[in-house]
Amino acid sequence: MDYRLSTMDYKHYLCRMERVVSGVRPTGQIHLGNYFGAIRNYVRLQEQADCFYFIADYHSLTTHPNPADLHANVREVLVTFLACGLDPEKATLYVQSDQPEIPELYLILNMLAGIGELERTVTYKEKASKQQDNLNAGLLTYPVLMTADIILHKATKVPVGKDQEQHLEMSRNFANRFNFQYNCEIFPEPQGFNFGEDLVKIPGLDGTGKMGKSEGGKNAIYLGEDPDSIRKKVMRAVTDAGPTGTNQPLTEPVANLIAVMKAVSSPDTVQFFLDQYAGGSIRYGDLKKQLAEDVVAFTAPIRARMLEISKDDALISRTVKLGAEKARASGSQTIKEVREAIGIKRFF
Ligand code: TYM
Repeated sequence: MDYRLSTMDYKHYLCRMERVVSGVRPTGQIHLGNYFGAIRNYVRLQEQADCFYFIADYHSLTTHPNPADLHANVREVLVTFLACGLDPEKATLYVQSDQPEIPELYLILNMLAGIGELERTVTYKEKASKQQDNLNAGLLTYPVLMTADIILHKATKVPVGKDQEQHLEMSRNFANRFNFQYNCEIFPEPQGFNFGEDLVKIPGLDGTGKMGKSEGGKNAIYLGEDPDSIRKKVMRAVTDAGPTGTNQPLTEPVANLIAVMKAVSSPDTVQFFLDQYAGGSIRYGDLKKQLAEDVVAFTAPIRARMLEISKDDALISRTVKLGAEKARASGSQTIKEVREAIGIKRFF
């Protein structure tokens, strides 16, 4: 018996599989927050769903990167995707700007987005207070572009970190609004996704807030970072004067280190240091040494693969070419339905 699927069967099979879309901005090296918030889930999902993962180069233009850096960063994210285990045969891996259907849908969705709701977006309000000298319209409409990315492929699952929760809620609103406005059911509702639990926030090493690419190198540990640099960063991470008695609640900087430890270390190791803290006898130096070694052990194989893959220009160009083709096949079908729904028809 021939178990191979015909092209028609394969298309039918893909149609029935759940759609997943997610992206990463090429604004610097990929860190542990990106990995545990998003990429780890990408890798698991590619085994069970029809996944579209992209490098969000248009999104990164809000900060006006210089052209050479942008190109190098797109390549770096792609190399990291592959090194983390994403497989171009299983998932569609592409660059956002290779898909012209995205800006088209973005333009159309902008006509349905209210200025008031965009101005109330938390990320926009943060930017508005921090960078008044570059408060461009791209920042305001950032959630609309994200919506276009997601709903173009009719995604229902969007693996992201906790920081993207509000953007996802806006995507649901815009998708529903389109369906309502044009009396159709083209778009399903996308939901943020993490295996098993709530969306994740990996904290940074500076005592407060999340690990981030833009907060300066000291706060984040990169997947491609060399072991000595990782050790130095972890040993310099912010802690406090230590517990003054037994069974005290964890302070924020210590809770943050424990949160990173939970991601990379064994449950026994985490419990050991929690017990030490509860007993009032914890030595932060020991905790940091253990954490540094566990981060190094976790990142080493990814770093080795990154070094290998970054030499392979042929693999990189094959991956994005295949990805662009697959993404366009899916996106152009949706755009056809969208145009029909809104009454954009050709006269020729
Ligand atoms: P970006 O590039 O800032 O981050 C990529 C992914 O990493 C997650 N992440 C984190 N998760 C946990 N803890 C952290 N400290 C942490 N830092 C980052 C982010 O939540 C994200 O999932 N707007 C997106 C890119 C994007 C996108 C999309 C995502 C554009 N279009 C469509 C999903 C769907 C962003 O800036 O991610």
